[in-house]
This record gives sequence, C-alpha cells and structure tokens, in this order.
Amino acid sequence: MNTIFKDETFRDDFTFSNSPAAIKRFPFPYWEDKYRYSVNIEPHVAGPKGSVYEFPFDIDEHYVSDMRDRALVLKEDPTRVQALPHMMLAQWDTLELIMTSLARDYPEHFTLERNGDDWHWINRPLRIENKFRFGDASTLPYEPMEYITRQCQGDFTISDQRENNLWMDAGIATSQADWSLDFDVGMNFMEWHAPVPLAHEAGVFDRALKFLLALQYGKPVRRLNWTMTINPRLDTSPENYHKWGVDRATVTPENVGDKVHLRVELQALWRLPRSNAILFSIRAYLIKMNELVTDLNRARRMHRVLQTLPPELAEYKGIIRYLDVTREWLAKYDDGKPTPLGF
Ligand code: HEM
Repeated sequence: MNTIFKDETFRDDFTFSNSPAAIKRFPFPYWEDKYRYSVNIEPHVAGPKGSVYEFPFDIDEHYVSDMRDRALVLKEDPTRVQALPHMMLAQWDTLELIMTSLARDYPEHFTLERNGDDWHWINRPLRIENKFRFGDASTLPYEPMEYITRQCQGDFTISDQRENNLWMDAGIATSQADWSLDFDVGMNFMEWHAPVPLAHEAGVFDRALKFLLALQYGKPVRRLNWTMTINPRLDTSPENYHKWGVDRATVTPENVGDKVHLRVELQALWRLPRSNAILFSIRAYLIKMNELVTDLNRARRMHRVLQTLPPELAEYKGIIRYLDVTREWLAKYDDGKPTPLGF
C-alpha cells in the first residue's frame, strides 16, 4: 500500500478531511435502520484488501498528523498515559504484538529486526529508529506501551485479569470520547462501564465480560462503537471539556455538513501471551456529514438511526443539543426507500 500521509490538524483551524478513498473505507457502524446496544463482537480476522479490517492495526492517511496530535496531548497532560507497576510484562506483550504486526503488514513503513532479545525498530514515516533490549525498559526512551502507542493510531487500554474480572491497569488515551483514563485506572469492567445507560439492565455487560474472560490467545475479536463530535477533534476528553464542550452550541442548519462528525471506534481485543492480560484498542475514525452523504445508503440510514435513537443514548453520547438540527439536515437525503441490511 502506498499511503500518502496528510499534513492536517485536529484542533484550532481543523484542517482534517478524508480523501475519497478514506470516505469509501470508512467503517459505517449501522447494520440496520436503528441502533441499540448489543454484544456485537466478531472475530478480528483479515477483511477485504484496502478495508479498515485488512490488518490488525490500521494505519491510514491520517497517521502522521494523528501521532503529532497525540504527542501534543501528552506534552500538556502526562496523566493520559498510565501503567501500574505490575503491568510491565503486559506492556512488553503489547509492544511485541504491535511491532510485529506493523512490520509484517506495512514493510515499506516499518522494519523490525530481532536477534534474541536485541531488537532494532525503524519507523520511517515518523523518522524513529531505536535499538533496544526486549524486556529491559531502560533501553527505550519511554516505557514499552507508551513507546509503541506513540507510533500506532488509536487509544489503548490493557486489562489485568484476576478475581473473574478485568481491571484497567494500564492505558493511553489522547483521543477518547469523553471518558478519563486517570479516573478509570484501577477500576474493573463493571465499574468503568457504570455510566453507560440501558446496557447493564439488558445484561450486555454480564455477557460481554463472560465472553472476554475466556478470550483465547491468537483469536482476537472486534466490535464497533460510535458517537458524534463537533469539528474533527480527536481529544474530546473530560480533562479538556472546557475547550470542546462549548462547540456543541455552535451547530446551525447552515454548518451541520461541515461541523457535525460521525465518530466510529473500531475496538479490538487481544489476549496477550506472557501476562494473560487483554489489550483493547480503540481506533477512532471521523467523517463529516458532507462526506458521509456522498453515499446515499449511508445518508438515509444515518437519518433513520438518529430518528429512532433512544433519548437515554442521545443524552449519554452528548448529542442532544444538536440532534434535531442534524436530523432535519439529513432528512432531505431520506427518500423513503429501503436500505439493504448491513450494506
Ligand atoms: C463504554 C472501556 C469492552 C460495551 C465504555 C467506556 C469505556 C469502555 C472507558 C466509557 C464509559 C464512560 O462513559 O465513562 C472498555 C474496555 C473494554 C470494553 C477497556 C475491554 C477491556 C466492551 C465490550 C463491550 C462494551 C466487550 C460489548 C458489549 C460498551 C458500550 C459503551 C461502552 C455499549 C457505551 C458506548 C457509547 O454509547 O458510546 N467502554 N470497554 N465495552 N462500552 Fe466498553
């Protein structure tokens, strides 16, 4: 793949946009005309060439700018990356998984040479090269999880498994949809999911946890989640709410197409080999309404999903304020025709 990395911003002047190819491969998350929470987990196996599922970790045209935004967030707020001391082995597992995947899947961008525990890593797009000793954190400029996730799109958490539960004991979150790593670190699966409405009563989290506790090494799984964001901003964290919360009040019928973005998270889960921890990747994709409606099937379905969204979900996702204006803007694309299931 010959990716041209775009030079763009996710803050201030917001120059982010998607190329026609990126619009086409955007992971549209609705498989029917309405949306409800469910345990929508499937095997994380290779998808069609060029799709976001082609490789376990998707590197796209936004990579270099995305990583630049991550570095900015970390510079301003070091609490966005945290790892409890007992997670060091899981950090090395994570580094190994990401490095071997990227070097195998994008050989033109990444190279990994291994000679026993002496490793040599080259990242051409970010101009990074390091020789280090696997297992010896003092030979890297950052701890292993931070080192590799500064070079891989998506937020990540690593959960320790004990007492029949998962504990968020490490992670990096610089592009999250309004949840805080600093608040959640050390919590278990039910605790960090506590704010989510309707899903607990529906048994979604009981089933999801049971499934994850039995997740096997070598058989990763994935699911999609979504929300909406005003402007193509990656860092919509509670820590910076004062910077982006106010944007929600700026949506008008004239600027919906440009300002309102669908934000889809491709979430994948891996059992890690040495630590038995679970790596959770949250890879976010943004698309503005003007780009989304270039596909009539998507436009029609987006309108119907927003029309039938339970108010509790709209409230939790923080989209109440501009929901009506977005629905009205989308209505002109809904010709009443049926849209194929899961197109
Ligand atoms: C939301 C983490 C796995 C379903 C969330 C939130 C976090 C999170 C931090 C935000 C909660 C808040 O408002 O503060 C994780 C981690 C997982 C995991 C670390 C794995 C280790 C799953 C799985 C499911 C799931 C397997 C499948 C049912 C949800 C749902 C929401 C949510 C439905 C609400 C999302 C929304 O409406 O935007 N998760 N999660 N999670 N999670 Fe998970």
